Amino acid sequence: MTLDLAPFKALIKNGCGLVFETSNEANLVRVLHERLGALNLSPRLYLDHLRASDQEFRELVNRLTINETFFFREPEQLRFLVERIVPRLLSRRLRLAPVRILSVGCSSGEEIYSLVMALNEHHGEGIGARFTFAGCDIDGTILAKARRGCYSDFSFRGVERHWRERFFTSQDKSHCLHERIKQAVTFHEFNVVTDPIPTRFKGIDILLFRNVSIYFDPATRLEVLRRIASMLNEEGVLIVAASETLANDLGVLRLVEEEGLFYFINAARSEEAPSPVPLVASPPLFPIVEPHPTIGRDPAISFPLPVVDSPSLDAALQAARSDVSDGRFDQARRLVDEKRHDEARTRLDELLASDPGHVGASLLRAYLLIERREFAQAESVARMALASNPDSIDALLLLGVAAKWQKKSHEAIAWFKQAVYRAHHCWPAHYHLAELHRFGHEFERARHGYRVVLQLLSEGGGETGLNYLPPGLPLAEVRFLSAHQLEKMRAVGSSSGVMATHGP
Ligand SMILES: C[S@@+](CC[C@H](N)C(=O)[O-])C[C@H]1O[C@@H](n2cnc3c(N)ncnc32)[C@H](O)[C@@H]1O
Repeated sequence: MTLDLAPFKALIKNGCGLVFETSNEANLVRVLHERLGALNLSPRLYLDHLRASDQEFRELVNRLTINETFFFREPEQLRFLVERIVPRLLSRRLRLAPVRILSVGCSSGEEIYSLVMALNEHHGEGIGARFTFAGCDIDGTILAKARRGCYSDFSFRGVERHWRERFFTSQDKSHCLHERIKQAVTFHEFNVVTDPIPTRFKGIDILLFRNVSIYFDPATRLEVLRRIASMLNEEGVLIVAASETLANDLGVLRLVEEEGLFYFINAARSEEAPSPVPLVASPPLFPIVEPHPTIGRDPAISFPLPVVDSPSLDAALQAARSDVSDGRFDQARRLVDEKRHDEARTRLDELLASDPGHVGASLLRAYLLIERREFAQAESVARMALASNPDSIDALLLLGVAAKWQKKSHEAIAWFKQAVYRAHHCWPAHYHLAELHRFGHEFERARHGYRVVLQLLSEGGGETGLNYLPPGLPLAEVRFLSAHQLEKMRAVGSSSGVMATHGP
């Protein structure tokens, strides 16, 4: 049965913000077929039913949401919250009102519980009086899991054992949170795009909104940011995932950078820097992050190209495969496009167990490792692939992205330059380069990069030079952000002269 997806897409976008493009459309088609089959309705009747029934709409959305999460995700952000932001908020309190913390798009609760555990380590058992914690999500099914508070090993990937041993009771392969941590959090069903904002979500001091806005288009994101601003206290803080920072810098909240990390403040766009807080005496809870290096300020500094080791090549990787269309690989790749990373990882592990020489599967697995910030392993796979094929754009891009995430900006620039040297049309590499140049205040280079990206995207953007990996950046988003950054730089240039030396 052929489905006209357009009216479904419009209904879903208006109802909850989720946007479906070519890359994740297959998921929508699969779920729609499931619901049509279960209710035995034609697409037209199902559309009517969806419009009339809030319950069915929620049912559909529950199946479409991507609930990927784990404990202590982006630990440097959490450390920063616990050691910097929270003490600042506590020191400003005139009365003994608790600091109010809300996770929007909390999924199964790992994010907000991580914060409860970390604050418990820092402030002891007294956190109940000093903080309130809440999580909300559109997906009622996943909230039930959050309330249960029991997790598999998979939720603890990359987490020090200490946390599990201290705050969980383990039986078989299930780890259940201690009651007192669980009791600290309340969970609520809430659609951040359309639901009226209840009083309990007003006057928030710290709002976590991580890995949710990636599924929205820029117009929805802007609207949601305005709603979030109305939920925050004055000087309240919004935390988004590091990769979402720029996409949320839409002029609603003030973007602040401190210690190489970004967050937003609900404040007038004054230039006043946040008052520094003395270092907390106790040892850091999380590994200290490397400060963001300042790149490109001195044109005399040129960074040598990263050296590719010539390791004893995994014989399997050497045998470059030609059957890219291998059914199992394609299936895994589709799962990645749909952001169903756990399932993709399982498929790739199966595929590599039976066919360890599948270069595409190794690289795609490395791509997933980078998403999980497991850089060392990912880099070693990419280097091996590169040693076997020095023109591998997939490997060069992976190495660039890994370096960028680890804030090794010079190294990242060198990898991306190699990628665009070999494949000029590789717009993801041009975009990363433009971003890195902008962070390094190399505005002319940044402008040039954004223009190249827009030019390549205006030609379709289908060609990237990548054989196995997705571009890693949504095309519409990159187009929007490139135009937005060019516009912003133009405005800064004309008002402050920052850009004046760089010419048009
Ligand atoms: C990828 S998870 C992010 C979980 C967690 N914040 C993290 O960063 O690990 C995204 C969550 O956003 C939720 N979500 C999507 N659209 C939403 C909406 N309109 N309102 C509230 N939650 C939404 C999904 O149900 C999903 O659980």
